[in-house]
Amino acid sequence: MYKKVIVLSVFYLINSFFYLGYSNDLNSKIIPVPDKQIFLDGFFIINSNTSINYPDQFKNSINFFRAFLNQGKNKFLVLKDSNTTSNFVQFLLDEKLSNDEGYKIEIRQNGITITSKDNKGAFYAIQTLRQLIPASFEDKTYPNKEIRIKCQIIEDSPRFKYRGMHLDVGRHLFSVEFIKKYIDALAMLKFNTFHWHLTEDQGWRIEIKKYPKLNTIAAYRDSTLAGHYTDRPRKYDKTKYGGYYTQEQVKDIVNYALEREITIIPEIEMPGHSKAAIAAYPNLSCEEKPVNVATLWGVFEDIYCSKEETFKFLEDVIDEVVDLFPGKYIHIGGDEAPKTRWEKCNNCQSVIKREGLKDEHELQNYFISRMEKYINSKGKKIIGWDEILEGGLAPNATVMSWRGISGGIKAANMKHDVIMTPNATCYLDHYQSKDKNEPLAIGGYTPLEEIYNYEPIPEELDSESSKYIIGAQGNVWTEYMSTSEYVEYMVFPRIFALSEVVWSKNKSNFEEFSNRVTSFFDRLDKLNINYSTHLEKID
Ligand code: ACM
Ligand code: ZN
Repeated sequence: MYKKVIVLSVFYLINSFFYLGYSNDLNSKIIPVPDKQIFLDGFFIINSNTSINYPDQFKNSINFFRAFLNQGKNKFLVLKDSNTTSNFVQFLLDEKLSNDEGYKIEIRQNGITITSKDNKGAFYAIQTLRQLIPASFEDKTYPNKEIRIKCQIIEDSPRFKYRGMHLDVGRHLFSVEFIKKYIDALAMLKFNTFHWHLTEDQGWRIEIKKYPKLNTIAAYRDSTLAGHYTDRPRKYDKTKYGGYYTQEQVKDIVNYALEREITIIPEIEMPGHSKAAIAAYPNLSCEEKPVNVATLWGVFEDIYCSKEETFKFLEDVIDEVVDLFPGKYIHIGGDEAPKTRWEKCNNCQSVIKREGLKDEHELQNYFISRMEKYINSKGKKIIGWDEILEGGLAPNATVMSWRGISGGIKAANMKHDVIMTPNATCYLDHYQSKDKNEPLAIGGYTPLEEIYNYEPIPEELDSESSKYIIGAQGNVWTEYMSTSEYVEYMVFPRIFALSEVVWSKNKSNFEEFSNRVTSFFDRLDKLNINYSTHLEKID
């Protein structure tokens, strides 16, 4: 017995030196953490003789995998199409598996077998495999002619079917190249939705062919607030700022996202946050007076009027938008729409009378429900911020709960789908550190640990209503993020915590998670992604 213990100890000692030599220690490094990861003896070696075998349905994922391996200095990793019994990577389709988007990876000395029910599962398996491959593959600098991967079995599937990240391109605009980089990062972390906030008071960012002034006027502001909103006196940079995505660029981005199993949800805000559109077409507002594209942040009183002309405009916009985005959702905003103009507007008041509405909140419900009907008639569903609960909820709407969780609870109890984005935990424009040197942010304090500990299903919901919480999302409002580097700084590493909130069923504790985050920094460096090193705990 004693002898056996010594022999085993020596065996494990030798083994661990061996593993360390290839930086394959037996602690999981994967983010988001998978359901199950069991290490086995030995290694599989991918080299120039490795074959690949896959069903046609997985072509999308295989293209991604091939491009990842066979690039830069690693051109030798071609992975020949063939069906061999050793030195293989094989993908198997098993339609009987219960988990959509789930996968199993078996890495043995003779080959890697990946089993999934659909291409999504295969894609996520590849994202996991990617994290078992040296980070230097990310910047094409891996120097060796083969890759050793520790033998292991991983089983994994997502906790939530909606796993989102948002980006506001209204306050600041980001290049097509950056949008693709952002989508890449989402895909790497197994998010499946990019919520693209395309219209704002400070700028309209999508080409609409029928209304060219949206692109010549609404897409540009004359000046931008410099410093914080609360600064007195306020200063402006007096520089024209703006631009928009052409429909060709949108199509390119949508396809890029599809190849990475990401659905894009476009947000076309109504009735509020519409000052830029009104600057281009003043007749869409109640007062019909000229206004400027906003140069300051905040909530503005100039919102769309509830007259027929506005509905015609919005329906025309939706017609072009639905043709560009194949996903099932259109986000119609609905938040922060002051009713002051509607209260004094003859057109709006006559709609209230005609429809037998109680007040302006019911008018907002009429507005949203009418647009929902139109969007539903195009085969799409709407999502709105939780203000769409005020004055009654449009019949088929999904609610994004952002002013805390009460809107989400209310909507789930009404049997409506809910996406949780409570600002206290899911707003990545908040400060992540109390360090005095942090760059300017909107306010708030949402450290990494707070997001890591976030539980999207409110305690108040019973098991039946909990089913309506379809997932959660991180929101990135860019008032104070004028560059892509700053967006990355605010998003990383907090997106890692969020990826575990929405994907992982097997979270452990913040210390263990922090270690994996620190290990990931090397990969972020290679991906040229900026990040904060503040792994702050809740204090
Ligand atoms: C929001 O943050 N206004 C949805
Ligand atoms: Zn009006």
